Amino acid sequence: MDDSVIVFDMPGHEALAERLARALDAEQGAISVRQFPDGETYVRGDTPCEGRDAVLAANLFQPNAQILPLIYCVRAARVLGARRVVLVSPYLPYMRQDARFQPGEVVTSRIFSRLLSNTVDGLVTIDPHLHRFSQLGEIYSIPTWVGHAAPAVAAWIRAHVDRPVIVGPDSESEQWVSAIGDEAGAPWIVLSKTRRGDRDVEIQVPPLEPWRSHTPVLVDDIISTARTMIETIGHLTAAGYAAPVCIGAHAVFAGDALDGLNRAGAATVVTCNTIEHPTNAIDLTGSLADGVHKLLETNADLVGAQEESR
Ligand code: R5P
Repeated sequence: MDDSVIVFDMPGHEALAERLARALDAEQGAISVRQFPDGETYVRGDTPCEGRDAVLAANLFQPNAQILPLIYCVRAARVLGARRVVLVSPYLPYMRQDARFQPGEVVTSRIFSRLLSNTVDGLVTIDPHLHRFSQLGEIYSIPTWVGHAAPAVAAWIRAHVDRPVIVGPDSESEQWVSAIGDEAGAPWIVLSKTRRGDRDVEIQVPPLEPWRSHTPVLVDDIISTARTMIETIGHLTAAGYAAPVCIGAHAVFAGDALDGLNRAGAATVVTCNTIEHPTNAIDLTGSLADGVHKLLETNADLVGAQEESR
């Protein structure tokens, strides 16, 4: 067992913490969290961890309700004596409002990243939505480590899909679609997307004929309203393709998005387990554990903020 590391979890993230502790061969510690009758939060750290690195498993999907408990739990780990506190959030929220598109808009990516950078000593995540920012270091001031779903997605496609052609819905997707295509030994194409509103997406397609005898595999980082994939399926169906396999790294699925995707003609919908969901079929825990090791090793002299915050 690796005694230098201890894994804590926030309420609701027990499964992630268990998987991580197993992959890291580390002890699991406890932090008690409960609501007072007035809705405020009570937090108590239970497992002393003097001088050890604390890994806090807390997926920040639906972040607004998570952020205050997160701040308290990080403090609990520091009170217990943690040397440094590393957050493992397989899905990193607030990455899509990455520019001021209309006058007066708040670039929430920047506010959120500042808040997290002031709270934890390091961050491990998977495929954050990097579009107008090319790396997390542009907005995060703490060490970060980014894992990629592409190798595991490519392995899943190799094992489950006959004659795949990988389809990315927009220019941002080229980064992972090309990597997956190369690793899966499959051709890939990238479409072009214009988003006019949350649920209003238009997809433009290049000539689709060359790969019509292949099984289309749509791959995106996030499936939220699923409008991007639903529009893409419409074009593929019109071009005479077979029903597509739809793969998302992050299973956000807002409202009835999954039903809509199935109704639109998806043959199957598969996601990585960065957000717990019945469609999870691709496990990225190993990549998160590697990320924790690499982040701690490459920042060995990083000192946590524990002294001033106990
Ligand atoms: C955005 O550009 C992302 O890469 C995804 O394409 C997008 O988040 C998917 O959103 P939705 O499922 O709502 O169309």
